[in-house]
Amino acid sequence: MEYNMTGTTKVWSVEQTQTGIQEAAAVLAVGGVIAFPTETVYGLGGDARNTEAVERIFAAKGRPSDNPLIVHLADREEVYVLVEQVNEVEEMLMEAFWPGPLTLVLPVRAGAVSELVTAGLDTVAVRVPAHEIARALIQQSGCPLAAPSANRSGRPSPTQAKHVVEDLDGRIDGILDGGATGVGLESTVVRVLAGEVHILRPGGITREQLQQAVGSSRVALVRTPEKKDNKEQVQVPRSPGVKYTHYAPKGEMLLITGKQEKLKVIVQEKADEAKKRGCRVAILSCSEHISSYQADEVFDCGPYNVPHQAAHSLYALLRECDERGVEFIVAEGYSEDGIGAALMNRLRKAAGGHEITIE
Ligand code: TXA
Ligand code: MG
Repeated sequence: MEYNMTGTTKVWSVEQTQTGIQEAAAVLAVGGVIAFPTETVYGLGGDARNTEAVERIFAAKGRPSDNPLIVHLADREEVYVLVEQVNEVEEMLMEAFWPGPLTLVLPVRAGAVSELVTAGLDTVAVRVPAHEIARALIQQSGCPLAAPSANRSGRPSPTQAKHVVEDLDGRIDGILDGGATGVGLESTVVRVLAGEVHILRPGGITREQLQQAVGSSRVALVRTPEKKDNKEQVQVPRSPGVKYTHYAPKGEMLLITGKQEKLKVIVQEKADEAKKRGCRVAILSCSEHISSYQADEVFDCGPYNVPHQAAHSLYALLRECDERGVEFIVAEGYSEDGIGAALMNRLRKAAGGHEITIE
């Protein structure tokens, strides 16, 4: 299904934000779909209660219908309209991290949102974004906004309005340009079960932050698919989205992790091998190693000890590799502390599991 209300996609520039929010809110209120900035990545929003609007989101993205959407609210109080109950640990998390890049999976109240939003599950994922444009848009539209990342399925999430234009121009009603997003990676998705906080998708709120907020409760990372026979502790349904290959650049990608000095040698070696095979090669490097590399493109992802800078720029760099016709990408790994966990998760997905670890 190809649908667009006007046949064209209106883009409101940063200077037009105020009128843009008003006009976009009016479009949302009658079932249109609008891309808007959040503190993580751009989202493609539609009224979560309106099945036709939600169908337009899935159609514009080419998203499989069994992958549920996150509902975005302007205020914490609105969550009780959508969900059956909120337990003590969940309250603590909302108090600590909303507005902000944390998504909670909660038992959905029957009929509160379209069944397409939840993909038929008995839970709904909810968050209150910490971006002024997002919150004003939700408020003015009067709709809880179902909003996946505003990319075509399988492409890196958009962190700038021009990325949304690249992927969705002509397929959605409008785009509110709010400049580059801050975090650059998606929200952390969690589910609380039996008092334990399960991270279904690592993201903008780190495991360390979660642990600090919930004190004695356990914070666990849900096992990745290849380890699904692991029978320890409570069985937690994984996020349906994690089974899909995401964030894939067009070229092949190899991730190299481990000891820093030796790592430089291997990165260059792999880049040279790909070059010999006739590939156009890019290296994603930490600032410290930039000057030692030679390739068609060498991108600076920021200092090794500042992973949030690499997180901020990763998706834009992957898109740039595509634009410049890069056929092979060698990426350096970062430490998995803090936001580094989410960064490494996305790098691994982009690399489709191709990783060399140096002992
Ligand atoms: O930062 C973000 O979360 C961005 C911005 C726009 O808010 N949104 C985003 O949405 O990343 P999306 O659709 O690209 O990813 C949503 C993830 C998917 O992995 C999906 O499977 C999971 O959340 N999810 C949604 N509803 C769920 C549910 N009821 N149970 C488990 N996982 C759920
Ligand atoms: Mg996405």
